Amino acid sequence: MKLTMIGTGYVGLVTGTCFAESGNDVICVDKIEAKIEALKLGNLPIYEPGLEELVINNFQDGRLQFTTDLDWAVNESELIFIAVGTPQSDDGSADLSGVFAVGEAIARSARDAKIIVIKSTVPVGTNAELERRVRAISGLPHQFASNPEFLKEGAAIDDFTKPDRVVVGVRHPAVADSLKELYLPFLRTERPFLVMTPESSEMTKYVANCMLATKISFINEMANLCEAYLADINDVRRGIGHDQRIGFSFLFPGVGYGGSCFPKDIRAMIHMAVSKGMHSLMMHAVDNVNEAQKHILPNKILARFGDSIATSTIGVWGLAFKPKTDDIREAPSLVLIDTLLKAGARLKIHDPEALDNVRAHFGDLDRLQYCSQPYDAVEGANALAIVTEWSEYRTPDFKKMMSKMAQPIIFDGRNIFDPANMQSRGFEYNGIGRFHSS
Ligand SMILES: NC(=O)c1ccc[n+]([C@@H]2O[C@H](COP(=O)([O-])OP(=O)(O)OC[C@H]3O[C@@H](n4cnc5c(N)ncnc54)[C@H](O)[C@@H]3O)[C@@H](O)[C@H]2O)c1
Repeated sequence: MKLTMIGTGYVGLVTGTCFAESGNDVICVDKIEAKIEALKLGNLPIYEPGLEELVINNFQDGRLQFTTDLDWAVNESELIFIAVGTPQSDDGSADLSGVFAVGEAIARSARDAKIIVIKSTVPVGTNAELERRVRAISGLPHQFASNPEFLKEGAAIDDFTKPDRVVVGVRHPAVADSLKELYLPFLRTERPFLVMTPESSEMTKYVANCMLATKISFINEMANLCEAYLADINDVRRGIGHDQRIGFSFLFPGVGYGGSCFPKDIRAMIHMAVSKGMHSLMMHAVDNVNEAQKHILPNKILARFGDSIATSTIGVWGLAFKPKTDDIREAPSLVLIDTLLKAGARLKIHDPEALDNVRAHFGDLDRLQYCSQPYDAVEGANALAIVTEWSEYRTPDFKKMMSKMAQPIIFDGRNIFDPANMQSRGFEYNGIGRFHSS
């Protein structure tokens, strides 16, 4: 099939490339000229495992094209996906100006009828509103669909090519049939293709993210309670996870969720409730717990060092909001760095992929050293804070760490180490909700 992806960001680039890989002709459009020119040269704007090779191969084979020319791209394709950002507005609602601007541009450009698919995460009613706006501009019998994306950064290609489910929201079965044909290569192992109304489809995406964020805030609050009562969240986690009604997934305590989706989607859901005269008690709680959780690790460090924080050096491992990405949007590491810098600490920070993005955020400061190697970040450090659980931090050379650190103190924001083991190696160890009786 011939398709156009408008918005070549995380979602647009990954999905466009995977559709090209399965034999479709895909044109990826973006308004940022530099991004498109870089992609033509094989330079990707994001880090995502396995993506670069797929982009380069499909580009060289001619199935994947990059352009800023929306008008041309629209008229080359039957299916047009909108994958632009829907960031948080000042009032917490999703900013839909990009989605509507692109929809209206498609309406003005298209010389024959298209299937216009919203892949961006949009509040319930956006499909209907887009249809109304497009019909006000164009008399062509365009069709509309909602097709939310569930991929995870860091595992995006796997998630897209082996989806737990594909959800489409349509008014006419024929539109669902076209989308099913496109997705068929990814559904071969009986993965469900769920057809519903656009309203239910739009809601499904928000409910999924709200549920996942709820699990994270829930286990974080329980971890904090464990700590207060000298219980160990890891034992408790195992104790509840074997109950099949509860399970183990997404119940790991930490420093709070970040990224480009959960924070804004939870706040958009809060706003959706307000728009109907309702109040989402649960999503307010999830958001509040998460914001508080981002302060847990820096507060532990401040409590441990007291006034001497101003003469202390803290090493930091992990800056991206999660492993295998360079994305630092709403990352807990930013709160930690900001808090410790304000308290006067000197910081030495490392991340395998996100260092440049953090440098762009904070700039070059006297007390903030960007380290390209993890062991450089612990050199002379009075403590190490682990904020993102990259694999390379999981089994470090503890002897080397011990020899480099000024004080062997670890604040493990992801519970990647065992308290008893760390104690036996001579480290003072602080996890999240962990307890070890020595
Ligand atoms: N990032 C994720 O993991 C993820 C997962 C599922 C769903 N989503 C949703 O998908 C949508 C896109 O997210 P993203 O992370 O890919 O965003 P992104 O910011 O990485 O990319 C959006 C792209 O759209 C481009 N763009 C904006 N306006 C444009 C226009 N008028 N014409 C052409 N291009 C334009 C931007 O330049 C940018 O490259 C959002 O609604 C997001 O909530 C994201």
